[in-house]
Amino acid sequence: MSATINENYLLLQNSYLFAEIARRVDEFQGENPDKDIIRMGIGDVTKPLSPSVIKAFKDAVDEMADPDKFRGYGPEQGYSFLAEAIIKNDFEPLNISLDIDEVFISDGAKCDTGNIQEIFDLDNIVAVTDPVYPVYVDTNVMAGRTGHALDNGKYDGLVYLPCTEENGFIPSLPETPVDLIYLCFPNNPTGTTLTTSQLAEFVKYAKENHSIILFDAAYEKFITEDDVPHSIYEIEGAKEVAIEFRSFSKTAGFTGTRCAYTIVPKELKVHDSEGKLQSLNNLWNRRQTTKFNGVSYPIQKAAEATYSSSGKAEINENIEYYLENAKAIRDSLVKIGLNVYGGINSPYIWIKTPNDMKSWDFFDLLLNKANIVGTPGAGFGPSGEGYLRLTAFNTLENTKEAMDRISKLSF
Ligand code: MLT
Repeated sequence: MSATINENYLLLQNSYLFAEIARRVDEFQGENPDKDIIRMGIGDVTKPLSPSVIKAFKDAVDEMADPDKFRGYGPEQGYSFLAEAIIKNDFEPLNISLDIDEVFISDGAKCDTGNIQEIFDLDNIVAVTDPVYPVYVDTNVMAGRTGHALDNGKYDGLVYLPCTEENGFIPSLPETPVDLIYLCFPNNPTGTTLTTSQLAEFVKYAKENHSIILFDAAYEKFITEDDVPHSIYEIEGAKEVAIEFRSFSKTAGFTGTRCAYTIVPKELKVHDSEGKLQSLNNLWNRRQTTKFNGVSYPIQKAAEATYSSSGKAEINENIEYYLENAKAIRDSLVKIGLNVYGGINSPYIWIKTPNDMKSWDFFDLLLNKANIVGTPGAGFGPSGEGYLRLTAFNTLENTKEAMDRISKLSF
């Protein structure tokens, strides 16, 4: 006997996208130590945690030093003070009522969107938009829900819903029945959104086909336009068909601090093989209590502070700052004749490469000639070929400098 591996991992293409970009950038920097690289690749924030958040964080750390206030293991689902603040601030204003045990606080939407597939059978047919946040695809590959990667960059067995210039980045409903549908709006990577009625079409489809929508709303706080849903539960009946993921990462600068949450409504029920209805809330609770020990108390206190009146004001200011950067990027690139999308309800700007360049060639050109890091669209799926994503998360100064450098390039 000898140990064997999960061979599904061998089906994965290349390394994880952002790890591969970091490797290429480190190599370039190693060879060109004097170059001042501006990073607009991974969606990582540059603004520090806000004063209210830091105060709550520090106070909670002090509590941990006090024998009367010290806390050990917390609830795996998160502390009720944070779940209550989430419901009151993120959902009640949208007329969505939730019970506290429908909120699962975690250390990231990446982990939650990656782990959620565990509670579904391997036979489920999965649909993803294309381009797509790679975590949804790779975790299903690892689980064994797909076949091999095909020459066209797709995985056998996955259903792709293309989002391109031609369809205005609005995915069509799946043409063949699917069981799980990953949707992320405002979208990563395209930065585009769906209207309420467009999203309602997916909810209707899910109800008719008994499918479940895995709705990633990590960028919801960047929505500036009307008629763009902040939560899928704004749509009638969505609680019967959708799980929603949210994050403090991009909203409040928690990319390094780690805090997010997932809503699993109790209405969500799926038949088991004996035809009995099973609650997804129960399954996710079982999964989390078994595999996760909760987010640390100081971090949950820090997250709670994002909902204080000062916290809200500080966070809004940061989001506006990033949206200003997004506007600066859009404006400069449009001026030099590029086709750009997103950046209005999102920190991501999706650029059509000039002269039909391949995504990785445009990535190399920007890195070598302007010392700017973007994310090649092809890394997000076959329909991302011919695009490149820039983020608005750098400083205004660096963003302007980057635009200046790009404007001087000739394509
Ligand atoms: C991205 O750049 O797409 C995101 O930062 C990745 C993530 O949130 O994990």
